[in-house]
Amino acid sequence: MDFEKFKKEKVFQRGRGGSDPQHLEDERLFHALLERHDEIERSTKKIEGGIESVTRVLSKDPELVKILQEHAVGMKKRFDGGRAIRSWDPLFTRLFDERGKIKMRWEMLEDGIKVTLKGEEEEIRALIDLHDETLHAFVNHGFKAAKEESPYRP
Ligand code: HEM
Repeated sequence: MDFEKFKKEKVFQRGRGGSDPQHLEDERLFHALLERHDEIERSTKKIEGGIESVTRVLSKDPELVKILQEHAVGMKKRFDGGRAIRSWDPLFTRLFDERGKIKMRWEMLEDGIKVTLKGEEEEIRALIDLHDETLHAFVNHGFKAAKEESPYRP
């Protein structure tokens, strides 16, 4: 694939995000997270069948904690409702297509969110790991990572 061309044209494989109120709200949340990425910390450990991740706001700023929590749960709802996001990015297209095979559970924390993601098949667990690597890159590099194909590996 001509990657430079792909990046410029951003081929939307599952439709464009759109500009309806829900999309604008989703965008507002992940933009705030990307902008304030250096106030966020994420750690992941392997568990039976998948991963457990804890994402925290270092300052415990209640506004950013709320944004993070609403984002994580909002993305799950968005996928369950059949609406893709970042569909120019092949990893997110796959995540969207396989959403029924990824089991997500969450627990709200005072300063963030704890999430477990599990899949029965090896292939799905590999996808979960790539998504996790992507979120770590978003947390470490913000917009720089978000504008590249996932996972961003500088
Ligand atoms: C610093 C930036 C970001 C942070 C801290 C963040 C955080 C999170 C967290 C905590 C989850 C829950 C799953 C998990 O913990 O493994 C999540 C899921 C997700 N996020 Fe983000 N996110 C960020 C940026 C983005 C961006 C830019 C997008 C897309 C445009 C995005 C799309 C998603 C999607 C699609 C899911 C999965 C929902 C599902 O599995 O059903 N995130 N994010």
